[in-house]
Amino acid sequence: MIITGKYPNLRLRRNRRYDWIRRLVEENYLSVNDLVLPIFLVEGKKKKEKIVNMPNVYRYSIDNLSPILDRTLKNKIPMIALFPHTEKYKKSPSGEEALNEDNLVCRALRYIKKNYKNKIGVMCDVALDPYTSHGHDGLLKNKIILNDETNKILVQQAILQAQMGCDVLAPSDMMDGRIGLIRKALDRNNLNNVQILSYAVKYASSFYGPFRNAVGSKKLLVGDKKTYQMDYKNKNEAIREVALDIKEGADMVMIKPGLPYLDILSLIKKEFNLPVLAYQVSGEYSLIMNGIKKGIINENSILETLISFKRAGATAIVTYFADQIANKL
Ligand code: PBG
Repeated sequence: MIITGKYPNLRLRRNRRYDWIRRLVEENYLSVNDLVLPIFLVEGKKKKEKIVNMPNVYRYSIDNLSPILDRTLKNKIPMIALFPHTEKYKKSPSGEEALNEDNLVCRALRYIKKNYKNKIGVMCDVALDPYTSHGHDGLLKNKIILNDETNKILVQQAILQAQMGCDVLAPSDMMDGRIGLIRKALDRNNLNNVQILSYAVKYASSFYGPFRNAVGSKKLLVGDKKTYQMDYKNKNEAIREVALDIKEGADMVMIKPGLPYLDILSLIKKEFNLPVLAYQVSGEYSLIMNGIKKGIINENSILETLISFKRAGATAIVTYFADQIANKL
């Protein structure tokens, strides 16, 4: 650190005096290239359904995706993330619907790849929670989430999604060893160009509530996810998770949730210097969005939080604000 002087010669406020000088010396900047937009899918025709506690976020039926996709393309957002709301009767203890090539995600992938080609990246979760009747990301037996048995299904789910056109597989299940198994299976199936964005650091968090509601797993969830998602008291463990996933073949890693974990984001970026994404999750979105709606905070709070991810070292941010903020950038 170079100390260049002291008060009164040194007055740091000089560089904050006008808008032009603040713009000139700004250290961080947000562009549309930094955004990933999550999109929720629902069965049916011409649907655009509201989601509890998530103002301005909707579930779309596939035939109603084009307006939001066109806008996303026009705004030059590089990638979307698909999340299905699965009908309850299609859910089962082992989540077989995840492997149905006509499930919502697969149909949406075919539709998007047919109509939008490679103009926009499509990312899909690899995890069973939208499909299991107990709401967990893996197989549940005697109250235990089975690791290796779950991995077998996750690998099949990943391959299916890749075959349907998914560009970026994003395992969000937190099973041990799944990145390596998915990478090997991709190679075996001539899918070696498909990227893996590992949710390497995913904490068992209270901020996922509105999302679980959006995909219809909230009321079904038995217990919690603490035996596979990370303990928020831990930091060093995040380094081990990321190191392992890089070794196993991850191209990028995700830190999740967002704002309460900026220290982790900054640490991982410094330690590994690979593309690191932050996920500003549903609970964070709801708090800010409803705060704005009620007039407790103003709209600038959106940009303030998004820039904080950049400052901490994020390569990009998965955020439900992507759609509303893109045309302001
Ligand atoms: C499920 C998954 C979750 C989110 C993304 N993928 C929820 C969970 O783990 O329970 C949360 C995203 C959000 O809250 O916005 N594997």
